[in-house]
Amino acid sequence: MPQTSIVRRKSEHLRIVAEEDVLHSRSTLFEDLHLEHDALPELDATDLELHTPFFGKTLDAPLMITSMTGGAEFAREMNEGLARTASEKGLAFSVGSQRVLLRYPEMIKDFAVRACIPDGVLLGNIGGVQLKEYSIEQIAGLADMIEADGLCVHLNAGQELVQGEGQQHGFSGVLDGIAHLVDRLDGRVLVKETGAGMGPKTLKRLAQIGVQYIDVAGSGGTSWTKVEKYRAPSHSLSSLGEVYQNWGIPTAVSLAAARRLLPEKVVIVASGGIQNGLEAAKAFALGAHLAGFARSVLLSFIEDGPQGAHAWIEAFLEQLRAAMILTGSRTPDELQSVAKVVTGGLKDYLSAYKLQPGDIQ
Ligand SMILES: Cc1cc2nc3c(=O)[nH]c(=O)nc-3n(C[C@H](O)[C@H](O)[C@H](O)COP(=O)(O)O)c2cc1C
Repeated sequence: MPQTSIVRRKSEHLRIVAEEDVLHSRSTLFEDLHLEHDALPELDATDLELHTPFFGKTLDAPLMITSMTGGAEFAREMNEGLARTASEKGLAFSVGSQRVLLRYPEMIKDFAVRACIPDGVLLGNIGGVQLKEYSIEQIAGLADMIEADGLCVHLNAGQELVQGEGQQHGFSGVLDGIAHLVDRLDGRVLVKETGAGMGPKTLKRLAQIGVQYIDVAGSGGTSWTKVEKYRAPSHSLSSLGEVYQNWGIPTAVSLAAARRLLPEKVVIVASGGIQNGLEAAKAFALGAHLAGFARSVLLSFIEDGPQGAHAWIEAFLEQLRAAMILTGSRTPDELQSVAKVVTGGLKDYLSAYKLQPGDIQ
């Protein structure tokens, strides 16, 4: 493996996420959403239906392991292990940023995990800022290189600003690049944040250019400004990371805005700080089609290998099924019509965005 700065950076990210406190100290605000308990669910566990369409295939459950790494020591083992786990459980899987492949194509082995998830949904990944540096053909080729069903484009302006080697000044032209890529890949593009969420303005712009898959990746989980703070090469970057460590739009807020503002046909993924099946159920109640997670499943993998990730997902599914029974919902979709009470910070945000609790059906 070439000891490039990208490889060093990715290895440091993994170490920091595994060893340091990298969470936002403000929450996703899912704790302010209360679903009505149904003491008479009139449902059997066998009535529950979790199958969900995604990228032209059918998942066994509406869940996704979102993009993590590639191009780091341990990346190949991690991508293979998590892809295999996703395949066994019928979930979607996305590799981490393939940027390194644009310069070092020989590192393909870290990412080429199709054999581990032969029939499932596999997505590639690239940074939005890279859409300005490389041709659309080169970027679209990243999906083909790993036989992916589509490509994630990640938005991470906060992280780039704090990252010493980041794209500190150039954030213009990304939207245009995404529009071209959506055309080139016939809509097989998922645009995601990385833990700072998306507000109404961003969501509307993505809808206008025809993006069909959006992962709001809100705040309340892994904070990438905080991760970069731990490896900042200068006092000014480390204090920038400190000041912006809690920056972003909480996941529950981003999601409510997405459901309200995006056309019905846009597939919404809820991620950013989703730690258990009850939070996923609340995400479905707010209108998400899928829920995703990164750091939590990674920690279980680091702790106990593929069995650890497997057990973590199994427990997550149990928690989700329990939420469905306790609200009398046969499908994740039916969670949308469960009566809800919104309190605290979530209520404040929704009224500021003029998303009254009544908008949440
Ligand atoms: C170790 C690690 C590496 C990541 N690398 C990428 C990446 O290469 N591309 C990307 O789009 N997101 C990346 N992410 C961000 C996640 O996909 C996710 O959006 C974010 O961590 C918030 O989710 P979480 O709170 O469940 O961790 C990474 C996350 C982790 C934990």
